[in-house]
Amino acid sequence: MNRKTCLITGGNAGIGKATAVGLAKLGATVVIVARSRERGEPALADIRRQSGNNAVHLLVADLASQRQIRQLAADFNSQFDKLDVLVNNAGVIPRTRQVTEDGLEMQFAVNHLAYFLLTNLLLDKLKASAPARVVNVSSMVHSWSSIDWADLQNERGYDASDVYAQTKLMNVLFTYELARRLAGTGVTANCLHPGVIGTKLYASYMGRRQSHDAADNENARGAQTSIYLAASPEVEGVTGKYFVDKRERRSTAVSYDETLARRLWEISAQLVNL
Ligand SMILES: NC(=O)c1ccc[n+]([C@@H]2O[C@H](COP(=O)([O-])OP(=O)(O)OC[C@H]3O[C@@H](n4cnc5c(N)ncnc54)[C@H](OP(=O)(O)O)[C@@H]3O)[C@@H](O)[C@H]2O)c1
Repeated sequence: MNRKTCLITGGNAGIGKATAVGLAKLGATVVIVARSRERGEPALADIRRQSGNNAVHLLVADLASQRQIRQLAADFNSQFDKLDVLVNNAGVIPRTRQVTEDGLEMQFAVNHLAYFLLTNLLLDKLKASAPARVVNVSSMVHSWSSIDWADLQNERGYDASDVYAQTKLMNVLFTYELARRLAGTGVTANCLHPGVIGTKLYASYMGRRQSHDAADNENARGAQTSIYLAASPEVEGVTGKYFVDKRERRSTAVSYDETLARRLWEISAQLVNL
């Protein structure tokens, strides 16, 4: 991965941080996104130390804020010449319904719309860097969901795990639609389930409190498929697929519905003013 530049959201903790370590170990220039300097700087130092690679950088953005996502894309575009791999990884599961500054339900905003908006804002850079890759971290729980068009903001009822599963289905629908729209550009888009890893997010999914991150080796296990999709020559040119344990798998039947994916794309574009 020498001379490759990788941008990873949620790169300060859990699976995203382990993905950053793994790609930095392979020689990539790695840029992590964290919501604050306080959250990002200790991770940055740790990723540099663990990987032995000093070409690791931090950009700050709260991905619940569309204004900050736009600033993040502008910062990246002005500071880095190319983008070979974008890993959309940041995720959250608040136990009670929260609303962002844009008036959107938090999980929908961070787990789906942030992937959608950041990717679209960086598409020109990805295309100019082709061959390039977009890697979207979804989850196996996507298959337990469908899209509730009548209540996308979950105003009528909020079950944190159900809402999470819906956003993870959106990750798969978005990936497949993105791959179709990028056909012929040299930019691929794939998604994955990382495994079940005892991170802060997992504790939240299970309704537990957790004050510390999972062990590094457990996070490293969770990062394997992201690193594979970001870096392996085996998946050069492979696009529009879902992976588990570094192997292509079928995602849930509804995720292949192109009408659904187009509808989600159009609604998402409206909600982020694209
Ligand atoms: N762990 C599992 O078993 C599992 C299973 C399937 C899928 N996944 C997926 O794996 C991905 C990574 O999750 P994880 O398990 O590694 O969880 P994690 O350790 O809680 O990491 C989540 C990351 O997202 C960041 N993040 C959340 N909200 C943000 C915001 N508003 N702005 C900026 N950054 C934000 C977090 O930052 P802070 O540290 O500041 O909160 C953290 O860096 C997620 O997409 C998740 O859906 C995980």
